[in-house]
Amino acid sequence: MPLPPELSALFEAARLARERAYAPYSGYAVGAAVETEEGRIYSGCNVENAAFPQSLCAERVAVAKAVSEGHRRVRRLLVLTEDGGTPCGGCRSVVAEFGSPETEIIVVNVEGHWRQYRLEELLPVAFEMSFVGRPSEPSRGRS
Ligand code: THU
Repeated sequence: MPLPPELSALFEAARLARERAYAPYSGYAVGAAVETEEGRIYSGCNVENAAFPQSLCAERVAVAKAVSEGHRRVRRLLVLTEDGGTPCGGCRSVVAEFGSPETEIIVVNVEGHWRQYRLEELLPVAFEMSFVGRPSEPSRGRS
């Protein structure tokens, strides 16, 4: 089934971003694009580093670009990879920070095959803001 037309701008942004992926170590290029509640689109690619742990995932780059431009509500995320790989756990948590359980995650491979999830399917029981409430609030999990 082809991607629905309402996702074509998001797909195109992710496709262009993936062409800019900097992945000399893994060879695994990732393009991502987020759509904010206002309908703006921010894209990102993975940016690897010789010090491997300093590498950035494409999804995190896209979210950081949205937030740094003043847009904190993510409605959708589309991720494009060779094989339709799903976002890593860390990126799911980053999306949860600025999304909702209903945030759509669309995973696409280079042949155009795609699957759509809700964030709560990919990250049930997310670690979220309420767990790290103000110091004056009783914290959870402690007596
Ligand atoms: N990568 C992403 O960009 N997003 C993910 O969700 C999973 C992994 C990148 C990190 C690294 O540059 C390459 O893919 C292989 O792990």
